[in-house]
Amino acid sequence: MSVLTGCAYYPEQWPKEYWPTDARIMREVGLSVVRLAEFAWDKMEPSPGVYDFDWLEEAIEILAAEGLKIVLCTPTPTPPPWLTHLHPDICRVNEQGIRISPGARRQPCGNVPAFQERAFNISSRIAERFGQHPAVIGWQIDNEFGVGQTTRCYCDHCRRRFHGWLQQKYGTLDALNQAWGTQFWGMTYRDWSYIPIPGITTEPQSPSMLLDYRRFSSNTWERFQRKQIDILRPLSPGRWITHNFMIRHWSLDYWKLAEDLDFVSYDNYPHGMSGPCETAMNLDLMHSFKQRPFWVMEQQPGPVNWHLYNPPVPEGQVRLWSHQAVAHGASAVVYFRFRAGRTGQEQYHRGLLKWDSSPDHTYYESQRVGQDVASLPNLTRPQAKVGIIYDYSDLWSIEIEPYHRDFSYYTLVNEIYAGFWKHNIAVDFLPRGADLTGYETVIVPAPILIHLGEVEKWRTWVEQGGRLIYTFRSYVRHASNTATDQPLPVGLGELIGARLRDYYSVPPESYTDWPDHRPGKHVQQIGGAKFQFAYKIWAEALEPTTAQPLLTYADGRLANQIAATINQVGSGEALYLGCWPENFADLLESLQLIPDASQSIKLGSLLGDDGSTWQVEMNHTSSPSNGLAGYDVRYTRIEG
Ligand code: GAL
Repeated sequence: MSVLTGCAYYPEQWPKEYWPTDARIMREVGLSVVRLAEFAWDKMEPSPGVYDFDWLEEAIEILAAEGLKIVLCTPTPTPPPWLTHLHPDICRVNEQGIRISPGARRQPCGNVPAFQERAFNISSRIAERFGQHPAVIGWQIDNEFGVGQTTRCYCDHCRRRFHGWLQQKYGTLDALNQAWGTQFWGMTYRDWSYIPIPGITTEPQSPSMLLDYRRFSSNTWERFQRKQIDILRPLSPGRWITHNFMIRHWSLDYWKLAEDLDFVSYDNYPHGMSGPCETAMNLDLMHSFKQRPFWVMEQQPGPVNWHLYNPPVPEGQVRLWSHQAVAHGASAVVYFRFRAGRTGQEQYHRGLLKWDSSPDHTYYESQRVGQDVASLPNLTRPQAKVGIIYDYSDLWSIEIEPYHRDFSYYTLVNEIYAGFWKHNIAVDFLPRGADLTGYETVIVPAPILIHLGEVEKWRTWVEQGGRLIYTFRSYVRHASNTATDQPLPVGLGELIGARLRDYYSVPPESYTDWPDHRPGKHVQQIGGAKFQFAYKIWAEALEPTTAQPLLTYADGRLANQIAATINQVGSGEALYLGCWPENFADLLESLQLIPDASQSIKLGSLLGDDGSTWQVEMNHTSSPSNGLAGYDVRYTRIEG
């Protein structure tokens, strides 16, 4: 089977009498994988050091008897009530200094020794018991690190760990004071223990401390995950290990979290996003984190419970969401969840079965997905021709000091991505400093942190024919989030053949203060077929040295200044875009950087392991188009 389908199942939530019937239904509907146990710690260890895995073994045997393969989870997102009772300090402290109450999930702080000890212990126990079970094919560590704003904690354990982390990073207090520039507002630290963590203050805290705290907090969960992986590997040989990443999530550095995993998993809830384009972008990110097939470990099955409104999902939509994931590189789609819950916090969440055990939409749709893919070979995604750089430290630096209310790194990346998606041009995401071999065009959105090593490397790639497009806010700050003393963009002037004259935060039109101070509204092309387009949020005036000017500001205070440049370097070109266009697709088309051919049917391209090439056509609308009904999908063998 080219693509596996499965479901999340919670035997601990259902009477035992249900289990055999549920397992049979799963098989009949065509599922082959079941994910178990991520929230079942209290049933595995009902009191300290007392273990009960027999119920889980029974459930696994029943499922395995129907031919289902098991993905087991370490149950660490939900410490049992006895544990938080014994150690109340396990619960996180929020930025306001208030300790979070138990009673939901993900309440633990990743730096509390009592939690770590118990969490690693239960991970060992479950792995000892089931690590070599023939039905167990792999592991999910924990569940969705960071969900519900839980990446960062502000407790005393974290404060102490942060000090140790800083000591390791900077070595001496002098080095830290220097890197952070602590002489500003008289903050020179003369003892590690004096260093604050984020909290409620009169005015903002040091952007350098805030950026390091984001890195430290992400690293807390990288370490927590790595420790569990180290426990599982020897106890469960030959099984893969993954973790389920989330939509629109950026408090964790997913590049780093992905490093220790065999592959990335993703929880695909398109109703949390703005539409199929943003879903596609998140799917592409998931493939990119390891440049290999990923799993959808949770697929939205219909309406969820956690929106302001939870509209119905049209017929065919869940099937199409599943195929969209496949078209973007997923090798398994696991539906969340088998049964709609009848107790607890997610009762309104749909599943394959309704409360009364009758089939819901997803029952039929998951069945169709299984049938759709049954005759396909194993499919993988080819490398794209376009790359977009995506970096968490850049995102965090801008989040800490956006300098414009609406400047969001994620939105910028999303808008650039949309320019390519509109034209069915596949995109891979790449980390800062990546090897660009094989790409034709690479966009670097707002790389605010200076990275001189990558400039050298990328210059060689440009000389050999690559097209590198930098946007505004390039190479402004050191890694410690302090400004440079060099002309902007630092170290990039020669490659792009231009310098920055100045940068401007552009207020929205509705902003009535100081109207005469607006930088302007439009830019226009220099020479060629003249076009004008509006820009927003950010503008930079450029001074070309060896580059050719490409765009000039058309009005306002910046009229006639240069807004974009292009520099021929060897047989390639380096572009610099100084303003944020209203519409990236229009800009890319007008500058002839992409063909002018927007298509309503979305295409995916996949390679079969039998040498075949496949095209996936997807209709994300309710109206028929190109021989496809609304929300329909078609796989066509192109060659091979
Ligand atoms: C996910 C989570 C699941 C469930 C689901 C509801 O974020 O991993 O446990 O809560 O959301 O949509």
